[in-house]
Amino acid sequence: MTTRLPPHEHAVLARLADAGDTRKFAELAGDCGLDQALVSAATTALAERGWITVEETSRTEAILTDAGRVASEKGTPERQLLLLLDLEVKVPMSEVHQVAAAKGFDGKSAVQWVFRKKWAEKRKPDNGGPDELRLTHAGEEALLGASPDEVALGRVARGEIAYLEDLEADGIEVPALIQGLRSRKDLLKLKTRTLRSAAITEDGRAAVEAGVEAAEEVSALTPELIASGRWRDVTFKKFDVTLPAEKVRAGKEHPLARTMRETREAFLAMGFEEASSEGVESGFWDFDALFQPQDHPAREMQDTFYLERPATLPLPADEALIDRVRRTHEDGGDTGSKGWGYKWSREKATQAILRTHTTATTIRALAEDPNPPRKIFTIGKVFRRETVSYKHLAEFMQIDGIVVDEKANLTSLKGTLTEFYRHLGFDKVKFKPSFFPYTEPSAEVFIYSEKHQDWIEVCGSGIFRPEVTEPLGCKVPVLAWGGGLERIALLQYEASHIKALYDDDIDWLREVPLCR
Ligand code: PHE
Repeated sequence: MTTRLPPHEHAVLARLADAGDTRKFAELAGDCGLDQALVSAATTALAERGWITVEETSRTEAILTDAGRVASEKGTPERQLLLLLDLEVKVPMSEVHQVAAAKGFDGKSAVQWVFRKKWAEKRKPDNGGPDELRLTHAGEEALLGASPDEVALGRVARGEIAYLEDLEADGIEVPALIQGLRSRKDLLKLKTRTLRSAAITEDGRAAVEAGVEAAEEVSALTPELIASGRWRDVTFKKFDVTLPAEKVRAGKEHPLARTMRETREAFLAMGFEEASSEGVESGFWDFDALFQPQDHPAREMQDTFYLERPATLPLPADEALIDRVRRTHEDGGDTGSKGWGYKWSREKATQAILRTHTTATTIRALAEDPNPPRKIFTIGKVFRRETVSYKHLAEFMQIDGIVVDEKANLTSLKGTLTEFYRHLGFDKVKFKPSFFPYTEPSAEVFIYSEKHQDWIEVCGSGIFRPEVTEPLGCKVPVLAWGGGLERIALLQYEASHIKALYDDDIDWLREVPLCR
């Protein structure tokens, strides 16, 4: 009895009957000229009839990194060191990095791996002297041929293998290789893929012998089908919305851009206006207007970037304002303070820097119009001379807000910040007494992260000192706070370090969920 099958099922079954043995889905798709999703649908249907079996295996795909490409062309760092040791016989430990740099390979990784592979050892020379690196017996043997990771690297680079498991045929012990490569993410990135393949069963063969044919299948009812009456004879294709399909990668906001947008929306929802100013700033606005003394450690070269061109920026046109700031620093002026008691330098105030905080922006906005009521915020880039690591970058984003209000006080500061962080999805906020040169009282603000089950510090806050507000002509209390934006983003997304937000790791960017 002939069975009529939808065309894709018929094609897959016929191909498997022909092939006799196992075919991978990707091969079937190519053989039958079908989309992989259709092959997958056909195999599900045929397996349900018991005509074929489907097998899943997991395979490790290796993808070359940039460093991996270099290593595949010039040899791994440890191979380059090995060749060098072969030539020079011994290299003083203290010179390895220098020698590596001169030859253009990564000395740190080279040393790490010659030790791990036991290709070399540290030895004290007979005459005393500093430790030397010398070839071991294993190192000499390694000169005769590539190690398994190098073999894998070469073959991936040449496009000869798609999956590491294919190396088994070369007598390489693949599980051990994969294990080893996990600590070599510098060279090869590993990805686990599930490969599916199908084979025909006895029942399937019997069905083919009894006769199967492809039913005419249509996916749309057309006027022609109705008019001709052919609709009676055709099979209508059913939609199966549960089928696996290729992922559609829609355009997506960058996580950090999203946090910036949400932050802006939170401020706007609370009635704040946005202010902005240049990243290149004068010492006057970044420090002096905020009553930070001119010998404050934050102003030191090692903390702040000073510009060469331009080396200076003009001070505000309002000479009286400059004078009030000067006097406030020197003896407190009319602010009721004693000031810092030193001679204020106009020159220092003109120095051009990369702004170290966005409080420079809010203070400029306050100077422009110090009359209450005002609520101002800013989001911008700031720069600090940090040693760059996965935790610290020399530039990052900050937010700053101020509230200029006759009735502003510590309680309204707490209320405002609690409300602000609630908008960003954090319900618990805590305050700890702190110190900033421009606020009194001052508080550090912590939010509770459910994910980390811990309090995380997110910003500094306080009420501007009279030494800050008075010279600007502001007669009412001003609430102020500011802090890093990336920290908030890290709490919102599954990312542990600031670098994740700036790395172009396309996999992470694709997978990271933006909804909460
Ligand atoms: N500018 C401070 C910083 O960069 C934060 C702050 C802003 C503190 C406003 C108090 C008031 O850390």
